[in-house]
Amino acid sequence: MAINYFPENQLFVLDAAECTYAFMVHPRYGRLVHLYHGAHLATDILKLFNYDTTPRSQSTIPPGGNPQDGSLSNLPQEFSSFGCGDFRLPSAQVRTPDGFNAVDAKYVSHRIFRGKVELPGLPASFATEAEAETLEVTLRDDVIKVEFVLSYSVFEKLPVIARSARALNRGETPVTVERLSSLTLDYRSGTKLDLVSFPGGWTRERRPLRERVNPGVREFASNRGLSSHQANPFFILCDPDATETHGRAWGQMLVYSGNFKAEVERDQYDMTHVQFGLNSERFSWKLEPGESFHSPEALTAFSASGFETLSHTFHDFLRRHLIRQTHVHLHRPVVVNNWEATKFAFDENKIVEFARRAADLGMDMLVLDDGWFGHRDESNSSLGDWFVYQAKLPSGIAKLAERVRELGVDFGLWFEPEMISPDSELYRAHPDWCLHIPGRPATLGRNQLVLDMGRREVIDCIFDQMSSLIAAAKINYIKWDANRQFTEVGSAVLPADRQGEAAHRFMLGTYELLQRLLERFPDLFIEGCAAGGGRFDAGMLYYTPQIWTSDDTDAVERLYIQYGTSFGYPPSAMSCHVSAVPNCHVGRVTPLETRGDVAMMGAFGYELDPAKFGEAERSEVRRQIAVARADEHLMLEGDLYRLGSPLDDNISGWELVAKDKREFIVTAVRIMSRPNPSHDWLLLRGLDADTMYRDLDSGESFSGAFLMNAGLYFPIVKADFTSFRRRFRAESGK
Ligand code: GLA
Repeated sequence: MAINYFPENQLFVLDAAECTYAFMVHPRYGRLVHLYHGAHLATDILKLFNYDTTPRSQSTIPPGGNPQDGSLSNLPQEFSSFGCGDFRLPSAQVRTPDGFNAVDAKYVSHRIFRGKVELPGLPASFATEAEAETLEVTLRDDVIKVEFVLSYSVFEKLPVIARSARALNRGETPVTVERLSSLTLDYRSGTKLDLVSFPGGWTRERRPLRERVNPGVREFASNRGLSSHQANPFFILCDPDATETHGRAWGQMLVYSGNFKAEVERDQYDMTHVQFGLNSERFSWKLEPGESFHSPEALTAFSASGFETLSHTFHDFLRRHLIRQTHVHLHRPVVVNNWEATKFAFDENKIVEFARRAADLGMDMLVLDDGWFGHRDESNSSLGDWFVYQAKLPSGIAKLAERVRELGVDFGLWFEPEMISPDSELYRAHPDWCLHIPGRPATLGRNQLVLDMGRREVIDCIFDQMSSLIAAAKINYIKWDANRQFTEVGSAVLPADRQGEAAHRFMLGTYELLQRLLERFPDLFIEGCAAGGGRFDAGMLYYTPQIWTSDDTDAVERLYIQYGTSFGYPPSAMSCHVSAVPNCHVGRVTPLETRGDVAMMGAFGYELDPAKFGEAERSEVRRQIAVARADEHLMLEGDLYRLGSPLDDNISGWELVAKDKREFIVTAVRIMSRPNPSHDWLLLRGLDADTMYRDLDSGESFSGAFLMNAGLYFPIVKADFTSFRRRFRAESGK
């Protein structure tokens, strides 16, 4: 890890583990020219500054420049100007009081320091001084008197660069930031690339989509207030022949949970230009003189050997530098959540009975989901009234929690803190506390409105309600939900020229509430959720080490969802529960064993009524819990290998391998049974070839070389949706 500056050429070379990132100040134009991002390069970087010097017709030359110095529109950029000769998507747009919004910023200075600074009010990666080094480059547009500080942090052990940008008003009049990318990337002319993104919808989140990067702009974004089910703030650019184990791949991840936009533009010279950050549509941020605005952080990672290594890099990075360290490595309770079993129809006795059954099966925690507060019997009331629903739970939450704990299971509680029901005491007292546009009828989503979390009094009120309940009931686990998308995004307290700030202020307020709760209750474990996986992103992971991956818990559908999610996010971030059959979304009946095996890919639990199990199922559940506990360390810390893809293959498998390669588990699901079938051998990866591994169930031994080159046999079973899971431990070898 090192950041080097070579003054003679004003060249910056960032070495981040096995990768190099380089850019320089253009000797005549003063703009930052991107040079390289890829496998480690020790020398010759300057040879990359070899743009075509033949003057081209139809190219624009910056003031004072010469045609042979190149045009901004065909030089790879670190920070693209707007309206001044780079016709590709800009890094920033800033409107001045005279109505113009052009930006053209030149290098002023830089500083390099050990460690990494926090981003005010925003989640961001962290590192000690020994683990990271940071470069801040200051650019300045002298016309609008705005400075842009681009920050790049490199890390000791991982090929990740954390980037962010800051706009600072150095002038004497206010300006309005209309766009500020967290990162700009340029891939050199002629580099053919594929784009892998993760679109989806409710109950079918993050299904990988691979396409060629073609001329024009391909964008995906969220304007729904949350990062969304429909798009995820993570994507990969890769060589067209890249696979799990081969080819170059560059991953980009935004540490943000609200509206975002990713734009991938292929220009006339086959240069691929990327802008990634806050969604610039419906966004603006006014800066008074002396004020600054910080973009969210973006992480960019490189792999020279396909998606598998790229995923390992992101998994390790999130676990080591983003998710709170006091929680990420902790034992995760095997949870039973009552939502799918009871919906709103429960009372105290039913929940206590639930807990008794859960304790009998060896589960660790009962999470009481939606419907315990206000007077909530359906989704049409009480959000915002975070006090107990007396008619349902007459003894109160603290007493109920005590009764549950006495039975031997811990107690967790569901909240939806950012929302408000029109039928609530909170709404009746403060009808203007929701996001709204005066005079425009409010659009409802799931019968509810969205609180204006940018207002201090709103987050204070929710904080007070939540914290008194958490303290009184001694709760150390909550599920934090958010069940609707935003409409009529306006704030009663913002002046006309700041209404474009409402959605981002919402996110900052939500982050602040999360932070305050975690400061007040340092042991509190928060599971994220947004109508399933509608806010599965690195921003939330900073506060909530695991996130409910999807409302769809069907074992086959989960193969797709967990497969897609795993490209960027580690297994420990995915909450995965076994639910009842037939599955409530697809009507599919899958074996309990398969549901268990699939759910054990992530943080394991149940989403059903334990009273409904017969004896055989009870013993299977006890077995599953024992296995999940025994192998939990591999789920928390191991390396994930995807074996086959549910998108292409009938068999979908994965391995979780300990970092020291001394133990691993392998799981596979054969989706459909086939007549007259062929034999299936799973070629494992990531093992030590010379080590003998013992199958802990059968006692049979195999060498790593055998398992990786000949494979592990997946026996034929005449049934659909069968799975198998094997656990191996090293018995000899290095
Ligand atoms: C969302 C969540 C579910 C459940 C319900 C409760 O849909 O994803 O898990 O908590 O809300 O209303």
